[in-house]
Amino acid sequence: MANLARPVALITGASSGIGATFARHLAARGFDLILVARRTEKLAELARELKVACELVTADLATDVGVDSVAEVIRGCARLELLVNNAGFGSLGRFWTAEAAGQEAMHRVHVLATVRLTHAALGGMVARNKGGVINVSSVAAFSINEGNVSYCSTKAWMNSFTEGLALELRGAESAVKVQALCPGFTITEFHDTLGVDRKGIPGFLWMSADFIVETSLKGLDKGKVIVVPGWIYRTIVTFLRPMPYAIRRHLKRPFKDRRV
Ligand SMILES: NC(=O)c1ccc[n+]([C@@H]2O[C@H](COP(=O)([O-])OP(=O)(O)OC[C@H]3O[C@@H](n4cnc5c(N)ncnc54)[C@H](OP(=O)(O)O)[C@@H]3O)[C@@H](O)[C@H]2O)c1
Repeated sequence: MANLARPVALITGASSGIGATFARHLAARGFDLILVARRTEKLAELARELKVACELVTADLATDVGVDSVAEVIRGCARLELLVNNAGFGSLGRFWTAEAAGQEAMHRVHVLATVRLTHAALGGMVARNKGGVINVSSVAAFSINEGNVSYCSTKAWMNSFTEGLALELRGAESAVKVQALCPGFTITEFHDTLGVDRKGIPGFLWMSADFIVETSLKGLDKGKVIVVPGWIYRTIVTFLRPMPYAIRRHLKRPFKDRRV
């Protein structure tokens, strides 16, 4: 086990994309790291690249055993100052045609793992009156799309959960911060895993993981609870947020995947 002597950040889904980028930025900010994902070799590669102490936890967050093992690590880490609930994935197809196990796994990773890991972290953080939790949500939290029902709903839950926690922490006069980070299309392995061709989505909508993480951490410094990186997405979200179903049902999906 690594000797984590500095403030510690635990990042789920650190083996690629936004999670690995959080690891690089947080290492530069002086954190030691606990990196969580299923692909241990990718975590080890990242740990070799970073010049800080890293503890690696191989865990499948769609399973009780996996989540419990990470919760245990969190409860045992008195130096934990930041939890980033970032692990996640998308799916294709209408809800009833998509594989049930995959839909359930998505709810387990996005919702249940976030509940359990945040609960494990907040007790200690609130007692120490120090720390933060970033829940990596999505602009999908503000929309409801055909072919994306579980993804949009779980991310909407994440925003709601985070806003609720922010209210409770404020009510308790705690200095602990929470944030729901809502990226739009970001260049990571996410769409490769889904088998979606990025060329089908206009170039101006793509953002880098570095930009997403920079915006998130600046937002956390300022205590922002909902962070939507990029003015284009902030504009889109302004319209999506209050849209009633009566209007939404007439909208066509902008980048409809043929398989949906
Ligand atoms: N890319 C985008 O356009 C975009 C937009 C908005 C929001 N997001 C959100 O950003 C977050 C990170 O995604 P990304 O874009 O960085 O995609 P990514 O490169 O595919 O990374 C996803 C990460 O989640 C981990 N993960 C997935 N299922 C897991 C499981 N069952 N147990 C443990 N770890 C698991 C993966 O690690 P292993 O495979 O090694 O387990 C990987 O490290 C997700 O929550 C996603 O919903 C992405």
